[in-house]
Amino acid sequence: MQTRLTEMLGIKHPIVQGGMQWVGLAELASAVSNAGGLGILTALTQPTPEDLEKEIRRCRDMTDKPFGVNLTILPTIKPVPYEEYARVIIESGIKIVETAGRNPEPFLPPYKAAGITVIHKCTSIRHSLKAERIGCDVVSVDGFECAGHPGEDDITNFILLPLAARKLSIPFLASGGFGDGRGLAAALALGADGINMGTRFMATQEAPIHDKVKQAMVEASELDTALIYRTLRNTARVFRNDIVEQVLEIESRPGQTNFEDIRELVKGVRGREVYSKGDLDRGVWSAGMVVGLIDDVPTCRELLDRIVGEAETIIAQRLAQVSGGPIHELA
Ligand SMILES: Cc1cc2nc3c(=O)[nH]c(=O)nc-3n(C[C@H](O)[C@H](O)[C@H](O)COP(=O)(O)O)c2cc1C
Repeated sequence: MQTRLTEMLGIKHPIVQGGMQWVGLAELASAVSNAGGLGILTALTQPTPEDLEKEIRRCRDMTDKPFGVNLTILPTIKPVPYEEYARVIIESGIKIVETAGRNPEPFLPPYKAAGITVIHKCTSIRHSLKAERIGCDVVSVDGFECAGHPGEDDITNFILLPLAARKLSIPFLASGGFGDGRGLAAALALGADGINMGTRFMATQEAPIHDKVKQAMVEASELDTALIYRTLRNTARVFRNDIVEQVLEIESRPGQTNFEDIRELVKGVRGREVYSKGDLDRGVWSAGMVVGLIDDVPTCRELLDRIVGEAETIIAQRLAQVSGGPIHELA
Protein backbone atom coordinates (compact mmCIF):
# COMPACT_ATOMS: atom_id res chain seq x y z
CA MET A 1 0.00 0.00 0.00
CA GLN A 2 1.32 3.41 -0.93
CA THR A 3 -0.09 6.67 0.38
CA ARG A 4 1.24 10.18 0.90
CA LEU A 5 2.09 9.05 4.42
CA THR A 6 4.19 6.00 3.50
CA GLU A 7 6.13 8.18 1.08
CA MET A 8 6.62 11.06 3.49
CA LEU A 9 7.72 8.86 6.40
CA GLY A 10 9.61 6.24 4.40
CA ILE A 11 7.60 3.31 5.81
CA LYS A 12 6.16 0.18 4.19
CA HIS A 13 2.68 0.04 5.74
CA PRO A 14 0.42 3.08 6.38
CA ILE A 15 0.19 2.21 10.09
CA VAL A 16 1.52 4.27 13.01
CA GLN A 17 1.80 3.31 16.68
CA GLY A 18 0.77 6.41 18.62
CA GLY A 19 2.56 7.64 21.74
CA MET A 20 1.56 5.67 24.84
CA GLN A 21 2.48 6.67 28.35
CA TRP A 22 4.28 3.78 30.16
CA VAL A 23 3.89 1.54 27.07
CA GLY A 24 5.82 3.38 24.33
CA LEU A 25 9.25 1.94 25.11
CA ALA A 26 11.95 0.82 22.65
CA GLU A 27 10.71 -2.81 22.65
CA LEU A 28 7.36 -1.83 21.13
CA ALA A 29 8.47 1.09 18.92
CA SER A 30 11.27 -0.95 17.32
CA ALA A 31 8.98 -3.95 16.78
CA VAL A 32 6.42 -1.79 14.98
CA SER A 33 9.09 -0.15 12.83
CA ASN A 34 10.74 -3.50 12.05
CA ALA A 35 7.32 -4.79 10.96
CA GLY A 36 7.01 -1.96 8.42
CA GLY A 37 4.93 0.55 10.41
CA LEU A 38 6.06 3.64 12.30
CA GLY A 39 6.93 2.98 15.94
CA ILE A 40 6.90 5.91 18.35
CA LEU A 41 8.70 6.28 21.69
CA THR A 42 6.87 8.22 24.39
CA ALA A 43 9.14 10.94 25.74
CA LEU A 44 7.43 11.45 29.09
CA THR A 45 7.59 7.75 29.97
CA GLN A 46 11.26 8.50 30.57
CA PRO A 47 11.77 10.17 33.97
CA THR A 48 14.33 12.69 32.65
CA PRO A 49 15.46 14.06 29.26
CA GLU A 50 18.75 12.17 29.76
CA ASP A 51 16.80 8.92 30.06
CA LEU A 52 15.00 9.75 26.82
CA GLU A 53 18.37 10.15 25.11
CA LYS A 54 19.34 6.64 26.31
CA GLU A 55 15.98 5.20 25.20
CA ILE A 56 16.43 6.67 21.71
CA ARG A 57 19.86 5.03 21.54
CA ARG A 58 18.39 1.73 22.75
CA CYS A 59 15.69 1.91 20.05
CA ARG A 60 18.33 2.62 17.39
CA ASP A 61 20.14 -0.55 18.49
CA MET A 62 16.92 -2.50 17.95
CA THR A 63 15.91 -1.16 14.51
CA ASP A 64 17.47 0.55 11.52
CA LYS A 65 14.01 1.63 10.29
CA PRO A 66 12.47 5.07 10.91
CA PHE A 67 10.84 5.65 14.29
CA GLY A 68 9.49 8.76 16.00
CA VAL A 69 9.11 10.31 19.45
CA ASN A 70 5.87 11.57 21.02
CA LEU A 71 6.05 14.66 23.24
CA THR A 72 2.67 15.25 24.86
CA ILE A 73 1.91 18.52 26.62
CA LEU A 74 -0.93 18.07 29.10
CA PRO A 75 -1.75 19.33 32.59
CA THR A 76 0.47 17.24 34.89
CA ILE A 77 0.67 16.91 38.66
CA LYS A 78 4.43 17.68 38.56
CA PRO A 79 5.97 20.38 36.26
CA VAL A 80 7.78 18.88 33.23
CA PRO A 81 10.89 20.33 31.46
CA TYR A 82 9.31 20.12 27.98
CA GLU A 83 11.98 22.27 26.29
CA GLU A 84 14.69 19.93 27.55
CA TYR A 85 12.87 16.87 26.19
CA ALA A 86 12.49 18.67 22.83
CA ARG A 87 16.20 19.55 22.83
CA VAL A 88 17.14 15.88 23.36
CA ILE A 89 14.81 14.81 20.53
CA ILE A 90 16.45 17.29 18.15
CA GLU A 91 20.03 16.62 19.24
CA SER A 92 19.50 12.86 18.97
CA GLY A 93 18.72 13.28 15.27
CA ILE A 94 15.09 12.11 15.47
CA LYS A 95 13.29 13.00 12.22
CA ILE A 96 9.63 12.36 13.15
CA VAL A 97 7.86 13.87 16.16
CA GLU A 98 4.28 13.31 17.29
CA THR A 99 2.95 16.30 19.23
CA ALA A 100 -0.24 16.20 21.28
CA GLY A 101 -2.12 17.86 24.08
CA ARG A 102 -1.58 21.52 23.36
CA ASN A 103 -0.87 23.78 20.37
CA PRO A 104 2.67 22.77 19.27
CA GLU A 105 3.44 26.19 17.71
CA PRO A 106 6.21 27.22 20.15
CA PHE A 107 8.11 24.00 19.34
CA LEU A 108 7.76 24.14 15.56
CA PRO A 109 10.64 26.52 14.66
CA PRO A 110 13.34 24.31 16.26
CA TYR A 111 11.75 21.12 14.93
CA LYS A 112 11.51 22.56 11.42
CA ALA A 113 15.06 23.90 11.55
CA ALA A 114 16.18 20.34 12.36
CA GLY A 115 14.26 18.92 9.36
CA ILE A 116 11.77 17.08 11.58
CA THR A 117 8.39 15.91 10.21
CA VAL A 118 5.71 16.91 12.75
CA ILE A 119 2.57 14.81 13.20
CA HIS A 120 0.10 16.67 15.42
CA LYS A 121 -2.67 14.73 17.14
CA CYS A 122 -6.01 16.61 17.23
CA THR A 123 -9.54 15.72 18.25
CA SER A 124 -11.37 18.34 16.17
CA ILE A 125 -11.42 19.79 12.68
CA ARG A 126 -10.77 23.32 13.91
CA HIS A 127 -7.58 22.18 15.64
CA SER A 128 -6.57 20.13 12.58
CA LEU A 129 -6.91 23.21 10.36
CA LYS A 130 -4.93 25.26 12.85
CA ALA A 131 -2.19 22.58 12.87
CA GLU A 132 -2.04 22.73 9.07
CA ARG A 133 -1.93 26.54 9.14
CA ILE A 134 0.96 26.75 11.60
CA GLY A 135 3.06 24.30 9.54
CA CYS A 136 2.53 20.78 10.89
CA ASP A 137 3.24 18.17 8.21
CA VAL A 138 0.63 15.55 9.14
CA VAL A 139 -2.44 15.56 11.37
CA SER A 140 -3.55 12.53 13.36
CA VAL A 141 -7.32 12.89 13.76
CA ASP A 142 -8.35 11.23 17.03
CA GLY A 143 -12.08 10.37 17.12
CA PHE A 144 -14.30 9.94 20.16
CA GLU A 145 -13.57 6.18 20.14
CA CYS A 146 -9.92 6.66 21.05
CA ALA A 147 -7.99 5.75 24.17
CA GLY A 148 -6.52 8.63 26.14
CA HIS A 149 -7.88 12.13 25.56
CA PRO A 150 -10.75 12.35 23.01
CA GLY A 151 -11.43 16.03 23.78
CA GLU A 152 -14.84 17.39 24.76
CA ASP A 153 -16.71 17.44 21.43
CA ASP A 154 -17.60 13.71 21.27
CA ILE A 155 -17.46 13.51 17.47
CA THR A 156 -16.76 10.05 16.06
CA ASN A 157 -14.45 9.26 13.17
CA PHE A 158 -17.36 8.73 10.76
CA ILE A 159 -17.81 12.49 10.79
CA LEU A 160 -14.30 13.72 11.59
CA LEU A 161 -12.52 11.82 8.80
CA PRO A 162 -14.67 12.90 5.83
CA LEU A 163 -14.50 16.46 7.17
CA ALA A 164 -10.72 16.20 7.38
CA ALA A 165 -10.64 14.86 3.80
CA ARG A 166 -12.73 17.79 2.60
CA LYS A 167 -10.86 20.50 4.44
CA LEU A 168 -7.20 19.53 4.89
CA SER A 169 -4.51 19.65 2.22
CA ILE A 170 -1.83 17.87 4.24
CA PRO A 171 -1.88 14.07 4.77
CA PHE A 172 -3.82 12.83 7.78
CA LEU A 173 -4.04 9.71 9.88
CA ALA A 174 -7.27 8.18 11.14
CA SER A 175 -6.87 7.50 14.85
CA GLY A 176 -9.17 5.94 17.42
CA GLY A 177 -11.03 2.68 17.06
CA PHE A 178 -8.72 1.01 14.53
CA GLY A 179 -7.50 -2.54 15.00
CA ASP A 180 -8.18 -4.62 11.90
CA GLY A 181 -8.19 -4.65 8.10
CA ARG A 182 -11.79 -3.51 7.87
CA GLY A 183 -10.81 -0.40 9.82
CA LEU A 184 -7.81 0.30 7.60
CA ALA A 185 -9.86 -0.12 4.40
CA ALA A 186 -12.57 2.14 5.85
CA ALA A 187 -10.04 4.79 6.90
CA LEU A 188 -8.57 4.88 3.40
CA ALA A 189 -12.09 5.08 1.93
CA LEU A 190 -12.93 7.98 4.24
CA GLY A 191 -9.92 9.88 2.91
CA ALA A 192 -7.18 9.15 5.43
CA ASP A 193 -3.60 8.35 4.38
CA GLY A 194 -3.17 5.72 7.07
CA ILE A 195 -4.19 4.71 10.57
CA ASN A 196 -2.78 5.41 14.02
CA MET A 197 -3.36 2.77 16.70
CA GLY A 198 -2.73 2.71 20.43
CA THR A 199 -4.93 0.16 22.19
CA ARG A 200 -4.46 -2.59 19.56
CA PHE A 201 -0.66 -2.39 19.97
CA MET A 202 -0.94 -2.96 23.74
CA ALA A 203 -2.17 -6.50 23.04
CA THR A 204 0.93 -7.58 21.11
CA GLN A 205 3.77 -9.88 22.15
CA GLU A 206 6.29 -7.04 22.19
CA ALA A 207 4.24 -4.53 24.25
CA PRO A 208 6.21 -4.14 27.50
CA ILE A 209 3.24 -4.72 29.81
CA HIS A 210 2.07 -7.61 32.00
CA ASP A 211 0.36 -10.53 30.25
CA LYS A 212 -2.66 -10.16 32.55
CA VAL A 213 -3.34 -6.73 31.02
CA LYS A 214 -3.15 -8.16 27.49
CA GLN A 215 -5.46 -11.03 28.52
CA ALA A 216 -7.96 -8.57 30.05
CA MET A 217 -8.05 -6.77 26.71
CA VAL A 218 -8.69 -10.00 24.83
CA GLU A 219 -11.62 -10.76 27.16
CA ALA A 220 -13.03 -7.21 27.18
CA SER A 221 -15.94 -6.01 25.06
CA GLU A 222 -16.58 -2.63 23.46
CA LEU A 223 -18.49 -1.70 26.63
CA ASP A 224 -15.45 -1.95 28.89
CA THR A 225 -14.15 1.61 28.63
CA ALA A 226 -15.31 4.69 30.53
CA LEU A 227 -14.79 8.45 30.32
CA ILE A 228 -13.27 10.06 33.40
CA TYR A 229 -12.28 13.70 34.12
CA ARG A 230 -15.36 14.92 32.20
CA THR A 231 -16.16 17.31 35.03
CA LEU A 232 -12.61 18.73 34.78
CA ARG A 233 -12.92 19.22 31.00
CA ASN A 234 -9.89 16.99 30.51
CA THR A 235 -11.78 13.84 29.48
CA ALA A 236 -9.88 10.55 29.28
CA ARG A 237 -11.06 7.19 27.95
CA VAL A 238 -9.80 4.41 30.19
CA PHE A 239 -10.38 0.72 30.89
CA ARG A 240 -13.33 0.30 33.25
CA ASN A 241 -12.22 -1.08 36.65
CA ASP A 242 -12.84 -0.58 40.40
CA ILE A 243 -10.72 2.58 40.60
CA VAL A 244 -12.49 4.09 37.59
CA GLU A 245 -15.89 3.37 39.18
CA GLN A 246 -14.72 5.22 42.30
CA VAL A 247 -13.56 8.21 40.24
CA LEU A 248 -16.88 8.27 38.36
CA GLU A 249 -18.79 8.17 41.64
CA ILE A 250 -16.83 11.17 42.96
CA GLU A 251 -17.34 13.02 39.65
CA SER A 252 -21.09 12.37 39.79
CA ARG A 253 -21.46 14.24 43.09
CA PRO A 254 -23.21 17.64 42.82
CA GLY A 255 -20.97 20.66 42.28
CA GLN A 256 -17.53 21.03 40.72
CA THR A 257 -15.17 18.06 41.22
CA ASN A 258 -12.16 18.93 43.30
CA PHE A 259 -9.07 17.25 41.80
CA GLU A 260 -7.78 16.68 45.35
CA ASP A 261 -10.65 14.23 45.87
CA ILE A 262 -9.40 11.95 43.10
CA ARG A 263 -5.66 12.70 43.07
CA GLU A 264 -4.70 9.62 45.09
CA LEU A 265 -6.81 7.29 42.94
CA VAL A 266 -5.49 8.52 39.57
CA LYS A 267 -1.78 8.87 40.40
CA GLY A 268 0.39 7.90 37.41
CA VAL A 269 2.48 5.53 39.53
CA ARG A 270 -0.61 3.42 40.27
CA GLY A 271 -1.45 3.16 36.55
CA ARG A 272 2.12 2.18 35.88
CA GLU A 273 1.81 -0.66 38.40
CA VAL A 274 -1.13 -2.06 36.46
CA TYR A 275 1.26 -2.58 33.56
CA SER A 276 4.25 -3.79 35.58
CA LYS A 277 2.45 -6.03 38.11
CA GLY A 278 -0.68 -7.02 36.20
CA ASP A 279 -2.88 -5.82 39.09
CA LEU A 280 -5.80 -4.64 36.93
CA ASP A 281 -7.58 -2.66 39.68
CA ARG A 282 -4.49 -0.90 41.02
CA GLY A 283 -4.92 2.29 38.98
CA VAL A 284 -6.29 4.05 35.96
CA TRP A 285 -5.08 2.83 32.54
CA SER A 286 -5.97 4.01 29.06
CA ALA A 287 -7.84 1.85 26.55
CA GLY A 288 -10.14 2.59 23.62
CA MET A 289 -13.44 1.10 22.47
CA VAL A 290 -11.46 -1.04 20.03
CA VAL A 291 -10.79 -3.49 22.90
CA GLY A 292 -14.07 -4.98 21.68
CA LEU A 293 -12.29 -6.04 18.47
CA ILE A 294 -9.21 -7.57 20.10
CA ASP A 295 -9.19 -11.34 20.50
CA ASP A 296 -5.55 -12.36 20.35
CA VAL A 297 -2.00 -11.27 21.22
CA PRO A 298 0.03 -11.50 18.00
CA THR A 299 3.52 -10.18 17.29
CA CYS A 300 3.60 -6.72 15.73
CA ARG A 301 4.67 -8.25 12.44
CA GLU A 302 1.77 -10.71 12.44
CA LEU A 303 -0.62 -7.90 13.33
CA LEU A 304 0.55 -5.49 10.63
CA ASP A 305 0.73 -8.17 7.92
CA ARG A 306 -2.76 -9.32 8.86
CA ILE A 307 -4.29 -5.82 8.89
CA VAL A 308 -2.76 -4.89 5.54
CA GLY A 309 -3.62 -8.27 4.01
CA GLU A 310 -7.25 -8.05 5.15
CA ALA A 311 -7.56 -4.48 3.89
CA GLU A 312 -6.10 -5.38 0.50
CA THR A 313 -8.51 -8.30 0.17
CA ILE A 314 -11.48 -6.11 1.08
CA ILE A 315 -10.48 -3.47 -1.45
CA ALA A 316 -9.61 -5.88 -4.29
CA GLN A 317 -12.46 -8.33 -3.76
CA ARG A 318 -15.40 -7.10 -1.70
CA LEU A 319 -15.35 -3.47 -2.81
CA ALA A 320 -14.54 -4.35 -6.42
CA GLN A 321 -17.43 -6.85 -6.41
CA VAL A 322 -19.86 -4.38 -4.85
CA SER A 323 -19.02 -1.80 -7.49
CA GLY A 324 -19.48 -4.36 -10.26
CA GLY A 325 -15.86 -4.31 -11.35
CA PRO A 326 -13.61 -7.30 -11.94
CA ILE A 327 -12.55 -9.29 -8.89
CA HIS A 328 -8.76 -9.18 -8.75
CA GLU A 329 -6.70 -12.16 -7.81
CA LEU A 330 -4.46 -11.31 -4.87
CA ALA A 331 -0.80 -12.22 -5.13
C1 LIG B 1 -2.05 3.12 27.20
C2 LIG B 1 -2.16 4.34 26.33
C3 LIG B 1 -1.44 5.47 26.65
C4 LIG B 1 -1.53 6.61 25.83
N1 LIG B 1 -0.73 7.70 26.12
C5 LIG B 1 -0.69 8.73 25.24
C6 LIG B 1 0.22 9.80 25.44
O1 LIG B 1 0.99 9.82 26.40
N2 LIG B 1 0.23 10.80 24.52
C7 LIG B 1 -0.60 10.80 23.43
O2 LIG B 1 -0.52 11.72 22.62
N3 LIG B 1 -1.49 9.81 23.24
C8 LIG B 1 -1.54 8.78 24.10
N4 LIG B 1 -2.40 7.74 23.88
C9 LIG B 1 -3.28 7.79 22.68
C10 LIG B 1 -2.68 7.03 21.49
O3 LIG B 1 -1.49 7.61 21.03
C11 LIG B 1 -3.68 7.00 20.31
O4 LIG B 1 -3.96 8.32 19.88
C12 LIG B 1 -4.97 6.32 20.68
O5 LIG B 1 -4.69 5.17 21.45
C13 LIG B 1 -5.74 5.95 19.43
O6 LIG B 1 -6.92 5.30 19.77
P1 LIG B 1 -7.04 3.68 19.88
O7 LIG B 1 -6.55 3.35 21.23
O8 LIG B 1 -8.48 3.44 19.70
O9 LIG B 1 -6.18 3.09 18.81
C14 LIG B 1 -2.38 6.61 24.69
C15 LIG B 1 -3.11 5.46 24.40
C16 LIG B 1 -3.01 4.33 25.19
C17 LIG B 1 -3.82 3.11 24.83
